[in-house]
Amino acid sequence: MSLPDLEGRTAVITGASRGIGAALAREFSTHGMKLGLCARAEPALPETETVVAVRLDVTSEQAVEAFTTRVERRFGGVDLWINNAGVLDPVGPIRDLSTIEFRAHIDVNLTGVFIGTRAYARHRRTHGGGGVLINISSGAAWHGYAGWGAYCAGKAGVERLTDCIALEEAESGLRAHAVAPGIVDTDMQEMIRACSADRFPDVERFRQMKREASFNSGTYVARQLLAIAFDPARRTDEVAIRLEDENG
Ligand SMILES: NC(=O)c1ccc[n+]([C@@H]2O[C@H](COP(=O)([O-])OP(=O)(O)OC[C@H]3O[C@@H](n4cnc5c(N)ncnc54)[C@H](OP(=O)(O)O)[C@@H]3O)[C@@H](O)[C@H]2O)c1
Repeated sequence: MSLPDLEGRTAVITGASRGIGAALAREFSTHGMKLGLCARAEPALPETETVVAVRLDVTSEQAVEAFTTRVERRFGGVDLWINNAGVLDPVGPIRDLSTIEFRAHIDVNLTGVFIGTRAYARHRRTHGGGGVLINISSGAAWHGYAGWGAYCAGKAGVERLTDCIALEEAESGLRAHAVAPGIVDTDMQEMIRACSADRFPDVERFRQMKREASFNSGTYVARQLLAIAFDPARRTDEVAIRLEDENG
């Protein structure tokens, strides 16, 4: 895969303190991109001339709007916005979940993506349209998994939300994708492997993946997302994209 020159392009990544978001930040910075990074903990790269690094919770619309304004004042138009922040909990049968836990999950994994998606759509409209939005989805958007009622509902919601923004903003030139990154060995995967089979009956499949080390690397995911956003040869109007396994 050959990526175009990305020097000076700007990307925003939410959930950039660790895991996939941190890997995206590191890989994008090697291409000379300007970055707006946020998470509740310190983002993986510190604030510099080419990095805006902010601690925030994606459920706060005020915080996300202030962050967007800060990135815009520093770098101007954002070429690529990635809503990556996400949580797994609560895991367990729906009959055992509390409404508070379910709402808290949806607040991050779906409402947080809505807030970021809206911020980016508004931002691009003040910059003449265009831009690429990537909402990080999951195979859990496509299939139900026992024990993942909140996670599957949230990710399925992310996919439909992304379909809608793609339709609404097509005339302004915004491209929107919901990308399932494949299995990447992050803290979230550790949490999955630590689940008991009574809470998550499919757990053994994920433990087996660890034994076989059959993961997509964060760097691979980062390069695939850059290609989807910027490589004319990879350009697609398909909203839902599932990354192929890195190891075939
Ligand atoms: N790993 C996989 O195999 C896999 C597969 C499919 C989809 N995904 C999706 O990929 C995304 C990243 O997952 P990951 O595996 O990298 O998970 P992770 O290692 O647990 O990292 C999650 C990231 O999201 C941030 N985050 C969580 N809640 C947040 C909030 N309320 N506000 C701001 N940031 C928040 C975390 O930072 P703080 O805790 O510092 O806020 C962290 O940077 C998620 O959307 C996940 O659903 C992952």
